[in-house]
Amino acid sequence: MDFSLSEEQVMIQQAARDFAQQELLPGVIERDDAQKFPKEQVKKMAELGFLGMMVDPKYGGSGLDTISYVLAMEELSKVDASASVIVSVNNSLVCWGLENFGTEDQKQKYLKRLASGDCIGAFCLSEPEAGSDATSQKTTAIDKGDHYVINGTKNWITNGGTAEIYLVMAQTHKEKGHKGINALIVEKGMKGFEIGPKENKLGIRGSDTHSLNFNDVKVPKENRIGEDGFGFKFAMKTLAGGRIGIAAQALGIAAGAYELALKYSKQRKAFGTEISNHQAIAFKLADMHTQIEAARNLVYKAAWEKDHGINYDQSSAMAKLFASQVAMDTTIEAVQIHGGYGFVKEYHVERMMRDAKITQIYEGTSEIQKIVISRGILRD
Ligand code: CAA
Repeated sequence: MDFSLSEEQVMIQQAARDFAQQELLPGVIERDDAQKFPKEQVKKMAELGFLGMMVDPKYGGSGLDTISYVLAMEELSKVDASASVIVSVNNSLVCWGLENFGTEDQKQKYLKRLASGDCIGAFCLSEPEAGSDATSQKTTAIDKGDHYVINGTKNWITNGGTAEIYLVMAQTHKEKGHKGINALIVEKGMKGFEIGPKENKLGIRGSDTHSLNFNDVKVPKENRIGEDGFGFKFAMKTLAGGRIGIAAQALGIAAGAYELALKYSKQRKAFGTEISNHQAIAFKLADMHTQIEAARNLVYKAAWEKDHGINYDQSSAMAKLFASQVAMDTTIEAVQIHGGYGFVKEYHVERMMRDAKITQIYEGTSEIQKIVISRGILRD
């Protein structure tokens, strides 16, 4: 078993680490406070090839493996989880879905722009009454011969306001249940497509999350991804990979908070010595370090399986379930180690604690991951 990274992977990791320190760290507190989308930073990430990391260079991507993607996600998330979710959604939900299931025309027209970061995309599955229960799609896409007409509402859509290309799941054949759902490419500006107000969130406040309204939106049939009725499978297959990205985000948030807590504990003195010399703190650091390493192994393993053509439905669910819990536990302890300083914004860890929570919710809650894992165990 070889746990070492390739030279290229180390280079990507270092590039993401440098970018996070130089470009994301300045202003991260202010962006969180003001719910400001990191527009300039996203532009620079596009230039560095972070928005289409796994996409074939012939479609404008960087042609890297999933391990490289995960390494970059981890480093970006150590500093700014709002920026990293933009990267994650664009890479693993939008670009990956289009590259693997889109037509050549769709790749030429949409994937090239998305992978090069000329624009960003959004993945629209959740609805006011269909979050975890994703087969219960109320949004409809009525077949009108050469086009579909979409009506309905999507909720909590990451990149909702800033995206230009949206992958929208909608019900075409109600009687067929999930087998009647289609995935359609919707462009910003299509008549009847409205972006709702921005959500005021607990965490990842720099990322922009909106509800979307579709009122008789006409979408040409050539914008359907896959065969008629493939939409739910498309969403599930895509989300299996997306969960690796979010697991890497959770890992990064945990590792970032741990690094800050470790540094602080070696500087802060109490009872005549650095607090890291007190076993109460040293044991917390030992637990955090161990948990993060375990999470890292699960995340890298899921990415490795994806790169090796092994089914990763279960490993991605396990990685996300575990890493998101580690993110919560570690950030709470990082605040505790910082004491009163941890409770104020300047020390970053309170933001990380708020950011960590979403990793247990989006791209399938922890409870959904347990459904996926337990079904896998019982089926095998
Ligand atoms: N790959 C391929 N097909 C899959 C699949 C996978 N990973 N998982 C399920 N399917 C297929 C099943 O085989 C089944 O097809 P058949 O009937 O042909 O066999 C079909 O999908 C339905 O599956 P289930 O019967 O298992 O459906 P279910 O109603 O019991 O629900 C679920 C399954 C796993 C709970 C699913 O509903 C789910 O994942 N829910 C969570 C949704 C989610 O993750 N939402 C996140 C929103 S996106 C987001 O957050 C993005 C963002 O902006 C950050």
